[in-house]
Amino acid sequence: MTKPKLLVARHLPKTPMQKIYDNFDIVDISKDEQTNEQVIAAAQGCQAILVGKALHKDLIDALPDSIKIFSTMSVGYDHIDVAAANARGIIVCNTPSVLDNATAEIGLLLMLGAARGANWGHAQVAAGQWGKPGSTSPFGIDVTGKKVAILGMGRIGRAFAKLARGLSMEVHYYNRSRLSADLEQGAIYHDTLEGLLPHAQFLSIHAGLTPDTKYILDAKAIELMPDGAVLVNTSRGDLVVDDAVIAALKSGKFFAAGLDVFTNEPNLNPEYLKLGNVYMLPHIGSATHETRDAMGNRAAENLIEYFKGNDPISVIKL
Ligand code: DGY
Repeated sequence: MTKPKLLVARHLPKTPMQKIYDNFDIVDISKDEQTNEQVIAAAQGCQAILVGKALHKDLIDALPDSIKIFSTMSVGYDHIDVAAANARGIIVCNTPSVLDNATAEIGLLLMLGAARGANWGHAQVAAGQWGKPGSTSPFGIDVTGKKVAILGMGRIGRAFAKLARGLSMEVHYYNRSRLSADLEQGAIYHDTLEGLLPHAQFLSIHAGLTPDTKYILDAKAIELMPDGAVLVNTSRGDLVVDDAVIAALKSGKFFAAGLDVFTNEPNLNPEYLKLGNVYMLPHIGSATHETRDAMGNRAAENLIEYFKGNDPISVIKL
């Protein structure tokens, strides 16, 4: 039986990649620059794309009619114009639910790391400064028992809330709609962002990036937060306005920030690098062996199920 032809714009981890080799004839452009022209040329005769770089409307509109499905190894799909794909009858699949705990763990690490100056402490020890006079300052702030505000209470937000409850934190959240009591687990709902932010001694962002949420944390929003707040972002850099966050970090409005995601990654705003109160990671929310394997498996299975004539496991519905 002929195998469907798949354009591979990125590789999956080893085990799920083997499933791809077993089930598809592949055109591999994962190591290439992936200009629009190259992707369009390579896609001729393909029925599916394992997504690599961003798929914007102009590129999607120029793809051959043979393409029926995109599969991305990510829960976020801000790099794909899903509406443009759907308008051409292309379905788009992602990998939700398998990375909730890994991402929530990074949120916890960032919250604790930012509050306790882990970046500073690490740099001290690494530079052999341990024990020198003054090396135990600056002090951090306590986390246990404080209020944490969660922006976006989907699966990852809820996984983070569970960890925050382990620190006896009072959990507040803002979400498009209120959750059922069993999902809320006692978290306090606010029906506006403006209602949430005054409670944000710690603010952890878990919303998806959409035109509605882009730059949602701007200077006006930050003003509503308590002085000395801590910002944590494991979602997408474009949910915040960098200049406003940097100003808050400089003025003391924010005690600190823990950031795993940045606008224009990996070329983040250089001002962040000059600040001592930012604990930064290079977008590693889902980067564990187990989670990346699970994401890769889901990305492969979405394609395999589709070509067996079944519904893929995770189709993005706008
Ligand atoms: C996701 O899955 O969206 C993570 O941010 C990794 O890109």
